[in-house]
Amino acid sequence: MGLACCKPEAIDFTQDVELKHFELQTAIGKGAFGKVKLVQHKNTKEKYALKYIDKKMCVEMKAVDCIIQERFLLEDVHSTFICNLRYAFQDDENMFMVIDLALGGDLRYLLNTKGPLSEDLVRFYMAESSLGIKYLHSQSIVHRDLKPDNILISEKGHVLLTDFNIATRFKADKPMKSEAGSPAYMAPEMFFRKGYNCTIDWWSLGVIQYELLLGKRPFESNSSDGLKKAIMNDEIAFKGNREIATDTQDVIKAFLCRDPTKRLGSRDNKVREHPYFKVLDWTQLPKLEVTPPFIPDTKNINCDFTHELEEILVNDNPLVAKARKPGEKKYAHLGEEIAKEYEKMETQFLNYDFTKPGQRKEEKEAIKRSNRNLHEEEGQQDSSILASPSPLVATTLLNTGKSELPDTPENAAAPDAVVVPDVVQDAAPNGESSDATPVVQKEEDAATSVE
Ligand SMILES: Nc1ncnc2c1ncn2[C@@H]1O[C@H](COP(=O)(O)OP(=O)(O)OP(=O)(O)O)[C@@H](O)[C@H]1O
Ligand SMILES: [Mg+2]
Repeated sequence: MGLACCKPEAIDFTQDVELKHFELQTAIGKGAFGKVKLVQHKNTKEKYALKYIDKKMCVEMKAVDCIIQERFLLEDVHSTFICNLRYAFQDDENMFMVIDLALGGDLRYLLNTKGPLSEDLVRFYMAESSLGIKYLHSQSIVHRDLKPDNILISEKGHVLLTDFNIATRFKADKPMKSEAGSPAYMAPEMFFRKGYNCTIDWWSLGVIQYELLLGKRPFESNSSDGLKKAIMNDEIAFKGNREIATDTQDVIKAFLCRDPTKRLGSRDNKVREHPYFKVLDWTQLPKLEVTPPFIPDTKNINCDFTHELEEILVNDNPLVAKARKPGEKKYAHLGEEIAKEYEKMETQFLNYDFTKPGQRKEEKEAIKRSNRNLHEEEGQQDSSILASPSPLVATTLLNTGKSELPDTPENAAAPDAVVVPDVVQDAAPNGESSDATPVVQKEEDAATSVE
């Protein structure tokens, strides 16, 4: 007697996946769009990363299309070098994506805790990342937001690319035009506004390689315009406390080649054929048979503990499984425009369960057909779709920026290169942004909006 109320609720795991199927554990990450928690499936006991996006914030940030797109793209990508999607679902407050857990944390965390990395380790991360990028490009997907925060390390030390928030599908013969990415990692051709293709990802990889080796970025400025000018014009200098081998300097310069057709990674410039990469066994790499030079210690969680601290101390609306409110018109009180966005999330952020492949296939195809803007870059779309701007602004990031780098001489020398694109400045909820914070700026709306 009296004990019945304390019994855990019986869960029917044959029903559609929802938050109560998971035990929520510690907070392991935070980005401009989502928070990430370690979770364990109550039935299978598998551990995953749960990325959840507050619907209210998502509407405020005008990021609804991006999140729906991220969910669709993630469902379509399957690679050893990508954090694969396992489940997707929503409740009235949040959209959820359950993805493979990367117990080694992200490269930003590694850089912050260990300082600049060894040449061998960087070479290995660059090589595995290049295989992930090549896979994406082979699927006609360009990532557009490669940076240390979005390259994760698996329990065994292998690379897993993540964060498809501003990724998009592209067509080889149709250049993309939106200014999209995290400013410090964006390729110069984005700023020339004459169109770009997927080779922008190789440029970002060059910036990352430089940063992992030297603990600072190759192009820096304390203004948005200054950073753009540096990216478009500055010589790449290898100044610092560390000697960088000639081969390594050469490969970084090859990734950071301003002519995208000559850039390492572009069609005629195979990454694996560069002398710097030749020491690796490229038949073993795709099979994860090259032993990673660094195996993370997974006894401890490899992430910034302030995420969990913030959840405990600051968050007055902690994540808990909540039953959904019934009623078709439940968003009507929010006003027509906002209600429309909520309804879009409701109908287009489809449930996904990797154990039930093919589920909701027709629904998904119908959404894709009716919503081409979610799946192709705007350069390939009808101008009518483009005419509706979808400004996307970034909020503060805890996990980016020089201020969190350890106090090494290299990092101390790196200026705090915070860039707030003019158009973002007014719109950002807290007025803060960073050169490692993603932005998308549609060409047609360049003067007025940031998507
Ligand atoms: N699968 C995972 N395993 C472990 N940690 C993860 C995983 N996915 C994300 N993280 C952590 O959470 C952080 C934020 O996740 P993610 O980049 O997907 O969010 P975001 O809001 O889209 O970020 P951004 O600001 O880069 O757009 C990552 O930088 C990483 O530290
Ligand atoms: Mg991210």
